[in-house]
Amino acid sequence: MTMINKMIYVHIPFCDSKCYYCNFCSANYPQEIRTKYFEKLLEEIKFNSNKNFEVSSIYIGGGTPSSVDEKYIQKILLAIKENYIIKSDAEISIECNPCSITEQKLFAYKSCGVNRISFGVQTLNNKQLKQIGRRHNKKQAKNAIKLAKMCGFSNINADFLIGIPNQSYFSLKSNLSQIIKLGVTHISAYMLINESGTKLTKLIEDKKVKVPTEDKCVYMYNKMVGYLKKKNYHRYEISNFSLQGFECKHNQGYWQMTEYYGFGLAAHSFVCGARYSNTSVMDEYLNFDFNYQKENLSNEEIIEELIMLGLRTQNGVNKHTLKNYGYNYDDKKEIIDNLRDNHFITEDEDYIRVCEDKFGVTNQIILKLL
Ligand SMILES: C[S@@+](CC[C@H](N)C(=O)[O-])C[C@H]1O[C@@H](n2cnc3c(N)ncnc32)[C@H](O)[C@@H]1O
Ligand code: SF4
Repeated sequence: MTMINKMIYVHIPFCDSKCYYCNFCSANYPQEIRTKYFEKLLEEIKFNSNKNFEVSSIYIGGGTPSSVDEKYIQKILLAIKENYIIKSDAEISIECNPCSITEQKLFAYKSCGVNRISFGVQTLNNKQLKQIGRRHNKKQAKNAIKLAKMCGFSNINADFLIGIPNQSYFSLKSNLSQIIKLGVTHISAYMLINESGTKLTKLIEDKKVKVPTEDKCVYMYNKMVGYLKKKNYHRYEISNFSLQGFECKHNQGYWQMTEYYGFGLAAHSFVCGARYSNTSVMDEYLNFDFNYQKENLSNEEIIEELIMLGLRTQNGVNKHTLKNYGYNYDDKKEIIDNLRDNHFITEDEDYIRVCEDKFGVTNQIILKLL
């Protein structure tokens, strides 16, 4: 298992328009706000300057980082390099929307060290893309991946959604097959969550749009897992699949409760056992004096997170780490024995893992172990 040192997350809260299903912290702010935001963001990166912080992963996410001028991304990465220690083999990812990526942007990202591109593909079906309010079409998604490869990126992720209106397993499989042929190394497949307050949720409530039933989504997901396995994309976390060696370090770091700084609107940090959360209100962030609110996590809270995050992954949760935080195995012995004997989990000297075919009931298993 790769042990991830420390990480940095940078949030870019800008999108050219809002997809119907999304309630991430992002909006189409005017240029004036964008300019101020980047000034503040650079200030925040410098304010926390820490030359003892050795970083093995940087993730520029959003929102849509590819929707802003590439000079901002270059400035951010330069500021990070000047204020933290970046390991020579660090993974540096950026999230892109297929319709806002250009050759110029990709070369600019490459020149400042970005080595992993993540595209929000969601589906390759034009009708489905329209129904969820995406700006791009199938052709743009495929061209974006081809362009990234042409610009020399060999580590490329495509995000997919399961549960889109009109989605069938037939269309999903055909989409995956086309994406795999383009040479992506990683696929994130998320069950579409109908978040309250989104346009899609309103359309569903008003019976203007119908999404596949939960049973159908589970069916599609399970079939997809089998298909991706056949194509050598192993499932290393509930929603993440990759070719061997292309697991996302940043994701893995979160699941191992690695320390990280999160910069920008609505970003969180986890440093020295404490959690820090930034405001998600733009005006407040622009006037932020970096007087962070600190929330110390108790051992019980850390145990809870270790179990919740670890059991979602193929690596599982480390028993020694749990013990160090005071997890009481004696109290849970009967439950653990029962889960193991009924093939819900496997256990060795170091790790407890959810059995591959039981990932669908991970949440229930977690509840039993807490
Ligand atoms: C920040 S976006 C990716 C980059 C870019 N903004 C884009 O959408 O092309 C992160 C991903 O979160 C997923 N996502 C967003 N809203 C979701 C929801 N309601 N349910 C499940 N996944 C969601 C989408 O797959 C999306 O690609
Ligand atoms: S899915 Fe991506 S592009 Fe769409 S609104 Fe959310 S962050 Fe923006």
